[in-house]
Amino acid sequence: MDSLTGLQIEAINSDAKPFLKWAGGKQKLLDEYDKYFPTHFNHYFEPFVGGGAVFFHLWNIGKFSKEVFLFDSNKELINTYRVVRDKIEELITAISVHKKKHNKDYYYKIRSLDRKNIYLNNVERAARTIYLNKTCYNGLYRVNSKGQFNVPMGSYKNPSILYEEVLRTASKALQIAHIECMDFREIVDYTKEDDFIYFDPPYKPVSKTSSFTSYTSDKFNDKDQKALAYIFNELTRKKCLCMLSNSYSPLILELYKDFRIEIVRTNRSINSNPDGRGDIKEVVVLNY
Ligand SMILES: C[S@@+](CC[C@H](N)C(=O)[O-])C[C@H]1O[C@@H](n2cnc3c(N)ncnc32)[C@H](O)[C@@H]1O
Repeated sequence: MDSLTGLQIEAINSDAKPFLKWAGGKQKLLDEYDKYFPTHFNHYFEPFVGGGAVFFHLWNIGKFSKEVFLFDSNKELINTYRVVRDKIEELITAISVHKKKHNKDYYYKIRSLDRKNIYLNNVERAARTIYLNKTCYNGLYRVNSKGQFNVPMGSYKNPSILYEEVLRTASKALQIAHIECMDFREIVDYTKEDDFIYFDPPYKPVSKTSSFTSYTSDKFNDKDQKALAYIFNELTRKKCLCMLSNSYSPLILELYKDFRIEIVRTNRSINSNPDGRGDIKEVVVLNY
């Protein structure tokens, strides 16, 4: 945690970026978002870290002067982040084994490991998550009610299973990160005045077919959106700097009507319904 300056100098030469495909990834919106990030802040929090596009971007542009806090309720995702941070070379070795063996039977054999009572250590679990993410249909993360990964294999001819440099650079960036598996409701206790919190929750669907909320076995519903708006208000009272992304939808416009709302346009790259792709409106909510 001491060597922020050294880490940030290295970032000038090699940009950090997400090492997973993740629904709702913000890679395409970063240029647009640059004008909304606060100039100065104390600690950085991302309670729905997902693929981490915003964290890696802020690291690349040298925005951090203190350690950061990355949270998500997906325990496999959080284990993967920790292994990338702490055991990068072991992880690369484990993924290269999957890369060599990859074929259809192998994919389903590795996918089925969470249906059997087989112990995997943290590195093996992270390698499995990355391997499945790179080879499954559309990079989706979807589990059934028992928490078992159930996405079919994708039809890539030559999937890019292992990018060593992307993983190593991500590992460097993550050295400044506290990484925890937790529900967003717990964030209030961790934050103080002048901390910056970027919220990227599962979006309120704009139509029934555009719904994509299965990152974990729990669904993110209107009750959760309302609880999140309550927390946004709580953190505003604590004088934290808050930024939130969500869909342009009546519920979201109503929940955040007392805050500054900016409209941005994007197109989706991961959507369970291919007809849902195209130019769509989203909002950025700011309390500063
Ligand atoms: C839209 S994605 C984040 C995308 C991310 N910003 C990126 O660029 O890839 C939403 C994330 O919220 C997480 N999530 C869902 N419900 C949650 C909850 N109750 N508490 C914390 N995280 C949750 C999901 O696991 C998922 O990773």
